[in-house]
Amino acid sequence: MLNFAINTAREAGKILAEKYGRGVQIHNKGVIDLVTEADLAAEQLIIERIRSYYPRHAILAEESGKSEHQNEFKWLIDPLDGTTNFAHNYPCFCVSIALEHEGVLKIGVIYDPLRDELFAAEKGEGATLNSKKIRVSETEKIERSLLCTGFPYNIRERGAAFVGHFINFLMEAQAVRRDGSAALDLAYIACGRFDGFWEDGLNPWDMAAGILLIEEAGGRVSSFDGSKYDIYKPPIIASNGLIHDAMMNVLNV
Ligand code: IPD
Ligand code: CA
Ligand code: CA
Repeated sequence: MLNFAINTAREAGKILAEKYGRGVQIHNKGVIDLVTEADLAAEQLIIERIRSYYPRHAILAEESGKSEHQNEFKWLIDPLDGTTNFAHNYPCFCVSIALEHEGVLKIGVIYDPLRDELFAAEKGEGATLNSKKIRVSETEKIERSLLCTGFPYNIRERGAAFVGHFINFLMEAQAVRRDGSAALDLAYIACGRFDGFWEDGLNPWDMAAGILLIEEAGGRVSSFDGSKYDIYKPPIIASNGLIHDAMMNVLNV
């Protein structure tokens, strides 16, 4: 199933790369929330492949929602994470595919087709980038850390809280980025490019694969108060583990 997920993410990524920069059709799902023909085409390919290889497995996909039936195996799919970037020709987006078995994350694959970077993890087997083992960074202090965050599409209703956290982290970290693809942000923690990430507002398909990558690369993921994360509840902190408590302190002031 790991190989299946890898091959499927690569094929979906090929669709994104082919459509990138070519003026695809874009629709608004909400005031600032977009969907493009690339999201839909990539998701269709992924779902068709799952239905043909694993017809009994359940699916939760961003654009088409939940499959009608339930199963102990569930695929969580974000066919294009970073849609706003994609629509503006900003080269930062990916495909994210995860597999849950009886509520436990077992497989996570994130593919960036423009850089041809394939991040993969299997529970208990470690994490890789293009088949080479990866580990989280060794940055010990938050003042030396490069952090990343994101803002959900309902930012206009809850802006003040998000901005407060952002300012507090700017005052503590070496620098803070907002790249626009939560899945890729999490993959970058797994391989040590970012030291920490926080966001309140993610969906299960945004974070499932990235969480497993980070755990398998030696990092830590929790909710804002330090309790175990739940991919069905939005707020998460993800880090190399070493700066996790310091990040919790910033979020809980
Ligand atoms: C979004 C991105 C963004 C994050 C949003 C997500 P999408 O996903 O991951 O970085 O801040 O919360 O919804 O819409 O590009 O798949
Ligand atoms: Ca997403
Ligand atoms: Ca998406």
